[in-house]
Amino acid sequence: MHDPIILDLQHKLAIATEALRKSEERATAGQLALEVMHDIRNPLESLRNLTYLTSIEADNPDKVRKYSALADEQMAIALDIADSTLGFARASISPRSVNLIKLAEAALRIHQQTIEAKQVRLVKDLPNEVVAPVYTGEMLQVLSNLIHNALDALPPAGTLCLRFRKRRGEVHLIVADNGHGIPDEHVDSVFQPFFTTKEDRGTGLGLAISRRIVERHRGTIRMRSSARPGRSGSIFKISIPV
Ligand SMILES: Nc1ncnc2c1ncn2[C@@H]1O[C@H](COP(=O)(O)OP(=O)(O)OP(=O)(O)O)[C@@H](O)[C@H]1O
Ligand SMILES: [Mg+2]
Repeated sequence: MHDPIILDLQHKLAIATEALRKSEERATAGQLALEVMHDIRNPLESLRNLTYLTSIEADNPDKVRKYSALADEQMAIALDIADSTLGFARASISPRSVNLIKLAEAALRIHQQTIEAKQVRLVKDLPNEVVAPVYTGEMLQVLSNLIHNALDALPPAGTLCLRFRKRRGEVHLIVADNGHGIPDEHVDSVFQPFFTTKEDRGTGLGLAISRRIVERHRGTIRMRSSARPGRSGSIFKISIPV
């Protein structure tokens, strides 16, 4: 039963299947590249600000030392993000027990300049220690993305609140702001890749990546928001099993 028509079809199917596999591989590689670029932008921007500060304070050794230590940390964060997105860290290391408060402080330092420039009121409702097994670079990305979104939404002198809690069997990480909020018609879309209301300033990947990372930790991320004038704001709550 070697019908030439069937043989020809089988041959064409094999070629089409191979082409599909290659294009899927390229799409995945493209997605990964986008993710790395997205999350590395924040520490890079922070680095640029720090080098600028260093140049204008060049005569003050104490300030130069302080800024270069901060720059060092931002470089380590950028590397960590690249490694974890490319799967290097994941292949060799399992989640480590990390004090998430330290991670929150590092995430805030990524956005320190914006917080100061916008005169944001920072409310930190954090116990001394909230330990959970996490992939450090990935969870730092999530916190940085949520803080970034909150800062984008806040008016000058608005409030950013970080509240972390230990509960039986899980930890809760809450990032809240009293910014402009999310209108009802967008609530179902904000976690979709490429959904953004920021036109050329946003790619719409922050929340999609964050949700994927949280789900890889077997956790959940939920959002409540109101866009009512005078009472607007958003709360993002992450729960991770410990
Ligand atoms: N805290 C918040 N307050 C108000 N709107 C928010 C908040 N967080 C997210 N959003 C809305 O959800 C959309 C999607 O957020 P997401 O972080 O995925 O992408 P983005 O911030 O637009 O772009 P990117 O994060 O890629 O720079 C935002 O464009 C914004 O409309
Ligand atoms: Mg964002």
